[in-house]
Amino acid sequence: MWAGLVLASALTAGGALAQGLPEPLPALPGDPVRGRAIVEDRQTGLCLLCHSGPFPDVPFQGDLGPDLTGVGARLDPAELRLRMVDSRAINGDTIMPPYFSRDGLNRVGDRWTGETILDAQQIEDVIAFLATLTQEESE
Ligand code: HEC
Repeated sequence: MWAGLVLASALTAGGALAQGLPEPLPALPGDPVRGRAIVEDRQTGLCLLCHSGPFPDVPFQGDLGPDLTGVGARLDPAELRLRMVDSRAINGDTIMPPYFSRDGLNRVGDRWTGETILDAQQIEDVIAFLATLTQEESE
């Protein structure tokens, strides 16, 4: 499995790989418009359950994770990809779901066994969108 393989090396290698996944997932180049829709959607990404950010049209944004305003300036695409694929590579105690990993998801129902939360294309779309969030103030 792509994610399992690369993540295993990210987790053991230390150094640069532990900070980011430079290789895009097998998908078309990310589309920031689709990525924004995934981030803002309450069913697909659930991102705004925990995060707030420059999303003026979305009520009730969360504060369990950092505000995503300016995240594209703080983190490069490789760093964003690793956090999206499996934030546990950075913080073993994270509450952020591993969006592209099948490892360690013990409590998923049968329906979801072998599925990732988002597919490769959705991950690349979200990364492309987050990379556009370079303004420090709400846009
Ligand atoms: C259940 C809560 C939760 C959900 C849902 C969640 N996150 Fe997170 N996220 C966190 C927390 C907490 C952190 C802080 C680092 C950590 O503890 O892992 C974080 C960190 C991040 C970071 C790094 C931010 C920084 O400034 O370092 C990014 C980017 C991110 N999340 C994006 C997303 C996106 C995009 C989604 C939806 C697809 C999402 N998150 C869904 C809780 C969540």
